[in-house]
Amino acid sequence: MSHKIYPVPEDWKKTARIDDARYRALYERSVKDPKGFWGEQALRIDWISPFTKVKHTSFDTHNVSIRWFEDGTTNVAMNCVDRHLPERAHRTAIIWEGDDPSVSRHITYGELHEAVCRFANVLKKHGVKKGDRVTIYLPMIPEAAFAMLACARIGAVHSVVFGGFSPDALAGRIEDAQSEVIVTADEGLRGGKKIPLKANVDAALDKTPAKTVIVVTRTGAEIDMQPGRDFRYEEEAARVHADCPYAEMDAEDPLFILYTSGSTGKPKGALHTTGGYLVYASLTHELVFDYRDGDVYWCTADVGWVTGHSYIIYGPLANGATTLMFEGVPNYPSVSRFWEIVDKHKVNIFYTAPTAIRALMAAGDAPVKKTSRASLRLLGSVGEPINPEAWEWYHRVVGEGRCPIVDTWWQTETGGALITPLPGATDLKPGSATRPFFGVVPEIIDPLGNVLEGACEGLLVIADSWPGQMRTVFGDHERFAQTYFTAYPGKYFTGDGARRDADGDYWITGRVDDVINVSGHRLGTAEVESALVAHERVSEAAVVGYPHDIKGQGIYAYVTLNAGVTPSEHLRKELAHWVRHEIGPIATPDVVQFAPGLPKTRSGKIMRRILRKIAEGEFGALGDTSTLADPSVVEELVRERAGK
Ligand code: PRX
Repeated sequence: MSHKIYPVPEDWKKTARIDDARYRALYERSVKDPKGFWGEQALRIDWISPFTKVKHTSFDTHNVSIRWFEDGTTNVAMNCVDRHLPERAHRTAIIWEGDDPSVSRHITYGELHEAVCRFANVLKKHGVKKGDRVTIYLPMIPEAAFAMLACARIGAVHSVVFGGFSPDALAGRIEDAQSEVIVTADEGLRGGKKIPLKANVDAALDKTPAKTVIVVTRTGAEIDMQPGRDFRYEEEAARVHADCPYAEMDAEDPLFILYTSGSTGKPKGALHTTGGYLVYASLTHELVFDYRDGDVYWCTADVGWVTGHSYIIYGPLANGATTLMFEGVPNYPSVSRFWEIVDKHKVNIFYTAPTAIRALMAAGDAPVKKTSRASLRLLGSVGEPINPEAWEWYHRVVGEGRCPIVDTWWQTETGGALITPLPGATDLKPGSATRPFFGVVPEIIDPLGNVLEGACEGLLVIADSWPGQMRTVFGDHERFAQTYFTAYPGKYFTGDGARRDADGDYWITGRVDDVINVSGHRLGTAEVESALVAHERVSEAAVVGYPHDIKGQGIYAYVTLNAGVTPSEHLRKELAHWVRHEIGPIATPDVVQFAPGLPKTRSGKIMRRILRKIAEGEFGALGDTSTLADPSVVEELVRERAGK
């Protein structure tokens, strides 16, 4: 635990939009009078028909209902594009930096308008209507932004699937969303390697309701095109009108679905809606990153994750910002790439994940120091707890001690940052996400649901709604209520543990459920287990996370083979490869340990606590094993693990 404090720098204090006193006053107002506070904040976006009702929310387990600004109408694409045209038509909306360092593009708001309209008209031509779901499976190219905004423009609901997911994972998401139209590219390009996106779509589609595939050309690779089903985006776009009216949407009409992993079952479709989401994404983008007119802002996430939705596309564009979109990876062609991009495009605000910071830190200071980074004034972190060593390095080496770091805690479910410093207001502590954003009421409770006061550690819940909150699990409101509002009735359960220190600052300690966070990617252990047991030689599997220097958590799989199957190094590799193939590279187990038996209670429940300790190599801390059906399996597992 780090006790070091980095006070708000003097120059930040002087220019702060929100200083400490203002933070405290506004925070107080926001939680005492949420209707008054959010009613005012919501005017930051343009409404077609104004709202009269601000907040209508219930966390009651039997009647979970979350509605914000419900009688207002607006359009997200109008807010992110059209309303900037009078003043910003010629200013850059998106800077696109290709995988190859010699390739980049600037897209103005005027160009963005035309591109979004054309994309919207292509979707319309293929029958997409208000409320229809469109699955977007694209690499980090500007067309991803165009496609998302095109959906928003006509009231279609996008479901972006990360390009690293396998055909099977893609098929499951298309099926669940019941999407008839898929947008993809011929191939993706990352770190010089090609990713066969269209071929993945082909493999996925037999099992789904999809009828139409729109294919954007990225590499020009030869791909199979099925007549009547597959269409080239460029040809389609050339044939449609360059203008498309935006649809008038209710504040609570769906904007997007984003699949995310939980502790049980298949990934669930987190549904976000229109008005509240945009208000929350844009306000947090402006205040957390202190975005000022003219700044170049770069979030390194992929649009396949919520960070990409809220803080590459919707928040920044709603604010008329210049947002950088990077196709590649931090270590290609060299580990200086991030900082070279910062210099090339004079990036002022840089937002990335701890796993990237740790990986770059491991490559030493020289690749950073050979670049200038003089344009940087603020750094951000998201996705997992940042260890103080990585924080200090980020601050000292990347930011040369001058840039505050905003460690933003949030989730796919929350739509935007909930616990985060505000750079002009908050003293920083390496490893702490510090204080709640406006309108956010975090509480720490014990496992019985008692609210703990003062300095304490326990489970993190949020006691009241905020506008960016997900509204439901797509197609399964019961699962929404079950997952988030049942264990601790009346509160939103985050799935995270947290500590609050004597100053009231929050320290997220990580997931308390069976969700693991691998390089900032969220995975359910149950998903990896079901992939493993789908292999013909596997009888049973249990997967846990364990601390990993770069990834934060690694994936440790205990596998029981079918009777008669001989364990071998070859099979171990095959199983890791199998999971990679079933879900995607991010789910590849780091360790596969063959387990003749798994520690189970007499009622047959796998004791994951014990498996986690064994994976961590903490053999002395296994706790009570006497309640196990067969305590000897533990000795066996420990012996095997100790031999590794
Ligand atoms: O455990 C928390 C961790 O990431 C989880 C949410 O993952 P996901 O829905 O994929 O969204 C990630 C990007 C918002 C959380 O439950 N997490 C995210 N940010 C932080 C974090 N843990 C600690 N500190 C953070 N700043």
